[in-house]
Amino acid sequence: MKINWSGRAHNYSRKEINYLVNIIKTADPLSQGKYLKKFEDVFGKYIKKKNVFAISSAAGALEIISSLLNLKKNDEVIIPAHTYCASAIPFARQGAKIIWADINFNTRVVDLEDIKKKITSKTKAIVIVHLYGYACDFRKIIGFCKKRKIKIIEDCAQSLGAEIKNRKTGTLADFSCYSFHAVKNITTLGEGGMLYVKDKRLALKVPGLRHNGHSQYSSKRKNYWLPAMVNVDLDLQNKWPYKLTLSEIQCGAGILMMKKIDKFNQLRIKRAKKFVKSLKNFKELVFNSSFEKRSHVYHLLSAYYKPSKKINRNNLIGKLHKEYSVKCAIQFYPLYKYSLFKKMRLGRHQCPNTEKFYNNMISFPFHIWMTNKQFDYMISSVKKVLIYLQKYR
Ligand SMILES: Cc1ncc(COP(=O)(O)O)c(C=O)c1O
Repeated sequence: MKINWSGRAHNYSRKEINYLVNIIKTADPLSQGKYLKKFEDVFGKYIKKKNVFAISSAAGALEIISSLLNLKKNDEVIIPAHTYCASAIPFARQGAKIIWADINFNTRVVDLEDIKKKITSKTKAIVIVHLYGYACDFRKIIGFCKKRKIKIIEDCAQSLGAEIKNRKTGTLADFSCYSFHAVKNITTLGEGGMLYVKDKRLALKVPGLRHNGHSQYSSKRKNYWLPAMVNVDLDLQNKWPYKLTLSEIQCGAGILMMKKIDKFNQLRIKRAKKFVKSLKNFKELVFNSSFEKRSHVYHLLSAYYKPSKKINRNNLIGKLHKEYSVKCAIQFYPLYKYSLFKKMRLGRHQCPNTEKFYNNMISFPFHIWMTNKQFDYMISSVKKVLIYLQKYR
């Protein structure tokens, strides 16, 4: 048996494919029509928010957020170093100085304690990331920052559906983004995202920012074709718009997948719990401590493998791959270590937990189309390798 690291999170049913084929055959327009509107409506209802905008990716949504923040030179933005690079690039592009936040070693997500240490008078915004699908303590962090007029961005690329006390991730901050990329808990045919903007006034700028500044002519026109089909304008100083739209077919997929998100998440949670329980006697493998009332939608299934003098997680990953064909991964390389961030002078850091976790973490394949048989095989393979490695610890 082989357990690969999959590039797709889930499959589509025959009925869903037929629905999408019908959009291909009949939709006019094929972009920015009724399916876009419906997808945004359905998503807005799910998170119980207005001002949600379908965007071509979470990275694109973050680009729009970073434009709306109107960052100035020397403004500081605090971002966890333990995340995917897209959480930081849009803010760096605007010229902000990125201050790297550390994770809490037990939860593997940012917490208020480290954020407090990194806030200065120049802090303009903070990006909090619900990494792995685990809700960081956003209520506490946002409560603290609100009083200080610091803008908060929730990166929910991995956490659609996770919540704390009935409040879904992404619904308390000034801005938030979600991802429907190929491997996420739901995908809109490989790429896609959603943006939430709390401020109604700023939300009005999103359609233009999303679509090359397309806008209505302000005065009533005598002839619809003059002076041109659409106006191009943007009511934001010194900002250029982007082209970050989703097609009607992708929006159609989004409408369908929103019906399934809770079911998919439940399946992930059930499997993750089984995995953790089956390996509970191996104290060297430490899963994140999920606190009650903070939910985890297990976008990924990761653990910390306590190293000994002779053995570390590379032995675990290597043996699982070579002898059992189970392909695990390491996530996430601390952003300040990447050449790009170093070249851009963003290599300074104070993140001991990020370092410690990165050095010995392991991420197990966790796509939900994995069969139960494959999943059980993965559990038994991990057990066998852990037992084997215990002899050398
Ligand atoms: C934490 C995080 N933020 C942002 C993104 C960017 O998402 P997208 O691929 O939709 O641009 C990802 C994607 O992997 C992510 O994991």
